[in-house]
Amino acid sequence: MGFAAIILAAGKGSRMKSAIPKVMHKLASAPMIDHVLASTEAAGAARNVVVVGFEGKMLKNHLGPRAETVWQNEQNGTGHAALQAREKLADFDGDAIVLYGDGPFVRPETMRAVLAKRSNGFDLVAVGFDTPSPSGYGRMLVQGDALEAIVEHKDCTPAQLEITLCNLGVIAAPAKLLFSLLEQVDSNNANGEIYLTDVVSIARKAGLRCGVVICPAEEATSINSRAQLAEAERVFQAQARAAAMENGCTLIAPETVHFALDTVIGADVLIEPNVFFGPGVSVENGAHIKAFCHLQGCHIAQDAIIGPFARLRPGAEIGASGRVGNFVEIKNAVLGDGAKVNHLSYVGDAGIGADSNIGAGVIFCNYDGVFKHHSKLGERVFVGSNSALVSPVEIGDDALIGTGTVVTEDIGAGDLALARAKQVNKKGRGKRLMDMLRAKKK
Ligand code: UD1
Ligand code: MG
Repeated sequence: MGFAAIILAAGKGSRMKSAIPKVMHKLASAPMIDHVLASTEAAGAARNVVVVGFEGKMLKNHLGPRAETVWQNEQNGTGHAALQAREKLADFDGDAIVLYGDGPFVRPETMRAVLAKRSNGFDLVAVGFDTPSPSGYGRMLVQGDALEAIVEHKDCTPAQLEITLCNLGVIAAPAKLLFSLLEQVDSNNANGEIYLTDVVSIARKAGLRCGVVICPAEEATSINSRAQLAEAERVFQAQARAAAMENGCTLIAPETVHFALDTVIGADVLIEPNVFFGPGVSVENGAHIKAFCHLQGCHIAQDAIIGPFARLRPGAEIGASGRVGNFVEIKNAVLGDGAKVNHLSYVGDAGIGADSNIGAGVIFCNYDGVFKHHSKLGERVFVGSNSALVSPVEIGDDALIGTGTVVTEDIGAGDLALARAKQVNKKGRGKRLMDMLRAKKK
């Protein structure tokens, strides 16, 4: 049976000075809470219960069916917050793990280690980390392999302040035991709050066995301010770049490439400097992303070449060995294998068949000011430079569109379409005109 994750996210996060809940602030293009959920899901959570409060509706809307929510109307402390999940989990017989929504770096491996220790004879397990600067954190009082108590910074004696083993904010116990312990916690402390961390000393008094799993200090990075958000971004990007390279992707200047939480990169992908991945991007093996590209919600198939200076927006799908060149924007458009859009174009709401070539400066006029319209091009279509396709139009296989054509009607397979005024040449008139103008200037 999987475990139930209880994720505390009701706090305002006053130090963010923001109108939105702290856990909705984005890290690697995804709200902080998504990072925590990605970890609990990877660790095999059977239930995810998020405790919401400040601007809770916004958070609830964002979560949708991905997590259950419970309300904490007054923020009376982390123990009080965790207790709000009691009714939702009344029929849950497995382990519960409490996590904080502002700690996005807790790894699934750490949760698995906690569960392993739980099934190894410990009634309650908390995660700790060692740090040379423990100020502000709850300190863990340990004897041998037994955790005796967690004491919050403000409640520490001078001797306890010297302890460097700190509470990460991940506590596991059987759900029923956890709630019965939480019911016994009072608010008799420096903050007048109901602390989650007090469950340890209460469990000890009842003769229960408590243990600690130690994790690396980076996992403890929690976010309380914009400066810490920027620091967390730095930590995330460093990890994501290292992971990309580890998986066989070449980054020429790793420090200039920014990934999102859900970026998927295949092997033998080459990424040049200054590339930004927004959410929802996947890149298949052998693709080459040249410098200064902005990619979001798109798929790049095998061996495609993108950029430099390309912008792929949501719904852009580039086929195998496709080309998207400089100053090209593509939105909600599928390019077949080998299709090319190499220079200065906008392709929106379109399907382009395999091996078609879209010339320089071609614009898909997909928006009439009210509605968006879709155009469909067959295979091996050649669209001459500086043409405009006024959607919706349908263009058959092997059609040829002359340069500068404004396409307003469908074109049959193999046909040639031309829509521009005929050229007129006037003998000697150019020079005469220029001479006249120059004479005027004197
Ligand atoms: C908490 C721990 C501390 C630990 C530190 C690690 C307690 C009492 N202290 O302190 O031991 O070292 O995290 O970062 O647990 N929240 C609610 N409702 C509330 C209060 C908080 O949902 O009434 C949520 C917050 O939104 C936040 C999380 O709980 O996501 C942690 O709360 P926070 O106030 O940041 O706790 P810390 O003081 O950092
Ligand atoms: Mg905190």
